[in-house]
Amino acid sequence: MNRKEHWETVYTKNKDTEVGWYQADPETSFNLIEKVTPGRGSVIDVGGGTSRLPEKLLDHGYREITVLDISAAAVAKAKARLAQRAEHIQWIVSDITEVEDLGAFDTWHDRAVFHFLTDPLDRKHYAELAARTVPRGGHLIMGVFTLDAPPRCSGLDVCRYDASMLAAEFSPAFRSLEETSHLHITPGGKPQHYIYLTFERL
Ligand SMILES: C[S@@+](CC[C@H](N)C(=O)[O-])C[C@H]1O[C@@H](n2cnc3c(N)ncnc32)[C@H](O)[C@@H]1O
Repeated sequence: MNRKEHWETVYTKNKDTEVGWYQADPETSFNLIEKVTPGRGSVIDVGGGTSRLPEKLLDHGYREITVLDISAAAVAKAKARLAQRAEHIQWIVSDITEVEDLGAFDTWHDRAVFHFLTDPLDRKHYAELAARTVPRGGHLIMGVFTLDAPPRCSGLDVCRYDASMLAAEFSPAFRSLEETSHLHITPGGKPQHYIYLTFERL
């Protein structure tokens, strides 16, 4: 099964409240985004899936929100949940490792997507695209599994990071500003440690 088929199957076969990464309130992501975009700039959530982040951003006055995901099923579910509010969001179904141009966004957010990129060439493409997309002074917020998190997620191998390893992936275009730890408890009760790094585009 290729990457796209994998994620389409995940979102077709599971309720979005039952997947391991489900959060009723994506407050760590939101707080980090709000910290760097007090003026409510444009935000892209890369691999947003069925996250509740877009409605939280809408609730707090953000109006330039884009959600990108490889899975059409995830995007369809998120749109259905948001109903009419979905019209205020731009939705993109694409594999981030194949996208060449996204335009410009003040803030790029990724929770639990980059860590699935086990091929260095995919990570290079991702980092170069982020550098093309986020203008100088803009921000990148990356949430990934830490070194003591599980080695697999959703049945796929992941790369795990500490702060310096993650910072190296985005250097020299981005400078790491802040490190935030987050303990996620899956709907099945399993602990997963995440590290979030907030970067500034230099
Ligand atoms: C673990 S889930 C996290 C979803 C969401 N960020 C959240 O925090 O709830 C990983 C997400 O990344 C998406 N994804 C995986 N690989 C991707 C890729 N290469 N391009 C775009 N999206 C991808 C999946 O469809 C899935 O929605």
